[in-house]
Amino acid sequence: MEEGGGGPLGLLCRVGWPAKPALSRGGQNPRGEKLCGHRRAPDWRAETKPAVPTSARSPSPPQDFILMADSKPAVDGEPMDMEALLQSVFGIVIDEAIQKGTSASEKVCEWKEPEELKQLLDLELQSQGESQEQILERCRAVIRYSVKTGHPRFFNQLFSGLDPHALAGRIITESLNTSQYTYEIAPVFVLMEEEVLKKLRALVGWSSGDGVFCPGGSVSNMYAMNLARYQRYPDCKQRGLRALPPLALFTSKECHYSINKGAAFLGLGTDSVRVVKADERGKMIPEDLERQIFQAEAEGSVPFLVSATSGTTVLGAFDPLDAIADVCQRHGLWFHVDAAWGGSVLLSQMHRHLLDGIQRADSVAWNPHKLLAAGLQCSALLLRDTSNLLKRCHGSQASYLFQQDKFYDVALDTGDKVLGGGNKETGRV
Ligand SMILES: Cc1ncc(COP(=O)(O)O)c(C=O)c1O
Repeated sequence: MEEGGGGPLGLLCRVGWPAKPALSRGGQNPRGEKLCGHRRAPDWRAETKPAVPTSARSPSPPQDFILMADSKPAVDGEPMDMEALLQSVFGIVIDEAIQKGTSASEKVCEWKEPEELKQLLDLELQSQGESQEQILERCRAVIRYSVKTGHPRFFNQLFSGLDPHALAGRIITESLNTSQYTYEIAPVFVLMEEEVLKKLRALVGWSSGDGVFCPGGSVSNMYAMNLARYQRYPDCKQRGLRALPPLALFTSKECHYSINKGAAFLGLGTDSVRVVKADERGKMIPEDLERQIFQAEAEGSVPFLVSATSGTTVLGAFDPLDAIADVCQRHGLWFHVDAAWGGSVLLSQMHRHLLDGIQRADSVAWNPHKLLAAGLQCSALLLRDTSNLLKRCHGSQASYLFQQDKFYDVALDTGDKVLGGGNKETGRV
């Protein structure tokens, strides 16, 4: 098996080939044991030790052996000291990314044009391993030519700064590298998610409800649209668009573009998004919302959702939530608040009033990775629902994961609430 760094930053999932053809494309060794996935042959290491020195190997190896790392990384057969490597990497990160990266006397970015940068980084993925020193030099180069978003002179529309607590949490979650679909694979993170969501809901003003962390505010908004549609037309989960009349949803002209993207992605079509007028400060005009609802009905569409924005992306406007909630109540519409940007105002005694009425929402999208400086990405979708709508809408009951006869409360297996599979569901852990 080819070992060592091999290419930019060293692929920790190494690509290589055994001396004898021991592994088929199907991920099995000659005894038919599955090697990639949950089970691995215990003596796989012995079987795949290279029989020929690296220098004697063919220059173009077959690329069909992608193995789970179950041995210590090595360069030219010598085991690499993993702890020493990581200590060095952490040292570089502290010096270059954190200390220099947040120092006003350093540059925000060592800018290079793409062609020059390609040359400097030498990005081609190679089949040969690299020495630890080369790998460390690559680490330094990645940091040197990247934008330092924690720098005091880095000004981004929506996030910036480096919060050491958030970073500490991310170092731990990255090191543990887990999925989060069941309690048994992520007991700590499942309980943490539950507790954090409970706290965020309490800040919204709900003593009960549901929610999930999503890979970003755009996805949170899309989940809300899907949930609103499913709640009105549960048949659509099975029958798809055939179960639906032409639907209409409403948002202001200052909304985030993810509303349009979500409408396209969910098969509603961007024509189903009715654009409500905003005033000179960028706030939705509730009278125009109601006018548009009547107009959509007159044109044969069925209104089902209003998405208000708390903290519009460009102007930072806060839609008048109470007045919009009144309209939703009169017309029986799902009330979503896209508070991806402005939700953190809930923590401010001075500005909390901007979100008055948010407790009347059915769903709220809130990105702690924006104003709260949590690491990218961290977006919560909060729901007032207590009827397990998330799971009913998205669940698929995969029996190999979500067995109902486990020895703990299977309500803690939250993975069936979301669209992701065995991945980390960025933002959840
Ligand atoms: C109001 C609003 N909603 C949604 C989003 C999308 O969030 P994300 O970038 O996490 O997908 C943004 C991002 O800028 C936003 O400002």
